[in-house]
Amino acid sequence: MGRVRLGVAVGCAVVTCAIAAALVGRRARSWWRWGRAVEVVREFEEGCATPVGRLRQVVDAMVVEMHAGLASDGGSKLKMLHTFVDTLPNGNEDGVYYAIDLDANSCRVLRVELGGRGSKIINHRVEKHKIPQELEYSASEEVFDFIASTLKRFVEREENVINLVPDEKKELGFTVSFPVRQLSVSSGVLIKWSKGFTIEDVVGKDVSQCLEDAMSKNGLNMRVAALVNDSVGTLALGHYYDQDTVAAVIIGTGTNACYIERCDAIIKCQGLLTNSGGMVVNMEWGNFWSSHLPRTSYDIALDDESPNRNDQGFEKMISEMYLGEIVRRVLLRIADESDIFGDSTHHLSVPFILRTSLMAAIHEDDSPDLREVGKILEETLQMLNTSLKVRMLVASVCDIVTKRAARLVAAGIIGILKKIGRDGIGSIASGRSKGTSRRTVVTIERGLYTDYSMFREYMNEAISEILGEQVSQNVVLRVSEDGSGIGTALLAAVYSSKR
Ligand code: BGC
Repeated sequence: MGRVRLGVAVGCAVVTCAIAAALVGRRARSWWRWGRAVEVVREFEEGCATPVGRLRQVVDAMVVEMHAGLASDGGSKLKMLHTFVDTLPNGNEDGVYYAIDLDANSCRVLRVELGGRGSKIINHRVEKHKIPQELEYSASEEVFDFIASTLKRFVEREENVINLVPDEKKELGFTVSFPVRQLSVSSGVLIKWSKGFTIEDVVGKDVSQCLEDAMSKNGLNMRVAALVNDSVGTLALGHYYDQDTVAAVIIGTGTNACYIERCDAIIKCQGLLTNSGGMVVNMEWGNFWSSHLPRTSYDIALDDESPNRNDQGFEKMISEMYLGEIVRRVLLRIADESDIFGDSTHHLSVPFILRTSLMAAIHEDDSPDLREVGKILEETLQMLNTSLKVRMLVASVCDIVTKRAARLVAAGIIGILKKIGRDGIGSIASGRSKGTSRRTVVTIERGLYTDYSMFREYMNEAISEILGEQVSQNVVLRVSEDGSGIGTALLAAVYSSKR
């Protein structure tokens, strides 16, 4: 009997030990996996680091590349395209102008009524239309036909309302949010598409001509008075309201910047003379590249798998089209190396499933249990019942991606200011105190800067880190809304044949 009891007791002890060992083993494995997940995030954070020293190197690299791009075509990845825009609107423009604002997958039509001196913009109307997906694979004629017929319906509606003279030739501003080599202020050839938009047979064509042909086919009596990049339209609107505006930045689906340059600094256009002595340069900064940019294996893989490999490197680190995608790639790696997301991680393999707007919502969730994060993980990525710890880890990946992007944008802006001597440094060299440098305004088109408060905070913080508290107070970032369209209509007024 005693032997039996002893046997049972030994048996129980063995089972208990086995269970305990299994539990300890499971816990150890789970700790190990959690540790792996944290390690992936830590390595990523290290790779994305942008201490102020590195940002200053990016500023200097931007200046060097700007010089190289201005010296010769192909001298830099920065195209530094001259725009023929040598005069910006100042508030004296009057009349009614239309504009088309073409971006990846969408086109907006606008009507702007200007009242001349003092009265500024009396009225403006905007309509946004999606370009039907099937047109992306069709010929350019069909796309321009779609744009012209959309404009026609808009003009007809507007004219019924305001009863304009029907035979009068109307003037139009045309915004193309892609790189264009300008032939004049009103014409230019598309260099290439970006942001995943591609209609191959437009590349190399004069886009104004394509639009004018489509307009006349549709019975529209209109001509393109100004063909501009969206950044240039944004600068025009910024300058219209504030004459201290020297540059404009777009941080939307894609990214770009333009600024007012002295003509004699645009060496590749020797002999260029303008009344103002200056000209707006479209930098196409989305294509900026420097070895000082903190690039990780995730950025490299994203680029390798993109349709425009080795292009738009800066854009792929900072614009709305890519931020959510970088986060997805890091989460996928975590899922591969640990089990912290549970079994259902296959949605994470779908490229671009995590849009940047969702990533911003994850990042900005300040509820104690990160409820919004849990909801997005569940609804978008089908990850059910995530723990608080997992949600926090996901939010920290979003933070890393956004912080890097915002700080790089800040460095890019200061690169421009440095190139034109508006970074406050000149005033120190010339013996003036930092505080007396000139007020300098940079217009920023809505998008990430306005819609994503953490992005804005990181950007502003980096500007004062790089320039110092005092000098940075002279740099004003002004938000513009619909600048790319309205500003282009203003430029149509400036370059109207009727003036
Ligand atoms: C284009 C630029 C454009 C920017 C913002 C980039 O992808 O190359 O021309 O200004 O997106 O829309």
